[in-house]
Amino acid sequence: MIESIRGRSLMSLHDLSRAALVEILDTAESFVEVHRRTVKKVPALKGRVVASLFFEESTRTRLSFETAAKRLSADVLSLAVASSSVKKGESLRDTIATIDALGIDAVVLRHRSSGAAEQVSRYVPHVRVINAGDGLHQHPTQGLLDAFTIRQVLAQRRGVNAVETGSTVFEGLRVLIVGDVMHSRVARSDIDAYVALGAQVRVAAPGTLLPMDIDAWPVEVVGDFEDAIEWADVIGLLRLQHERGAGSFVPSLSEFTAIYGLTASRARRLRPETLIMHPGPINRGVELDSTVADLPAAIIERQVSNGVPIRMAVLYLTVAASPSEVV
Ligand code: NCD
Repeated sequence: MIESIRGRSLMSLHDLSRAALVEILDTAESFVEVHRRTVKKVPALKGRVVASLFFEESTRTRLSFETAAKRLSADVLSLAVASSSVKKGESLRDTIATIDALGIDAVVLRHRSSGAAEQVSRYVPHVRVINAGDGLHQHPTQGLLDAFTIRQVLAQRRGVNAVETGSTVFEGLRVLIVGDVMHSRVARSDIDAYVALGAQVRVAAPGTLLPMDIDAWPVEVVGDFEDAIEWADVIGLLRLQHERGAGSFVPSLSEFTAIYGLTASRARRLRPETLIMHPGPINRGVELDSTVADLPAAIIERQVSNGVPIRMAVLYLTVAASPSEVV
């Protein structure tokens, strides 16, 4: 178990202890306030260079990582993959070597292959590598920002400071994850975070969209979304991953929605305090009805906003030398 990500790369949440997770959430809390300043910057990573390499599509993750790096005063090298030499067939290894030759301290990497971030950290062991989503494997900063968002909302409801809760809000919390679990790196990272923090997790998905090794996961599988809808304190919906062929694992989109979609009629059965989450982008009308996505219980935009302080915390802890550099 890793007890702190200070000075390390971040590949996965699977091997992080509760203490390591809480340290990241608490550090992120200290960065929330920077967002409200007129000058939205702290000098923590001044003079450091963060390379942002997205070999797969992204809106939220890339923009919030780059915003986070800039708020920490780092210089950002952003590779536009579509117009780079990757399109001429340059390998991942050669691309990384080229960027490393420019002098970098960290790489934020998104790639369609599971294990790509791990591979890059072997090519450039002196550089901190942060996995921004690798194939079906992990999306650690999404798991962190989801946990951060839940903690923030529950602490606010109880009228207490999120850090002072000691993250006890997760103990016994009932989280239901629904949809394309098999292809979801978000589900894997969310489950790692929630379980380590003390939550109970159930998953609801068609049998064809459950991973082969689901029995080894620390979750309970429920065949039917309906059965768990009133049980859940939090519902985490997953996008049907068309680009990974998910469409061929369900008879039709409308049949998937009829059984596993958070439709307007199903949403009426939720307890009023149940939170609705989605990592985005949403397939409106497939996993989530459009009217439901806009309900107050849906905290999807708050998830997006929280991507910035969480990624600031991850960059700060992995790259910065000493805690005294925060302010
Ligand atoms: C997720 C991803 O790319 O894994 N999106 C994100 O980072 N916000 C989820 C998805 O694309 O379905």
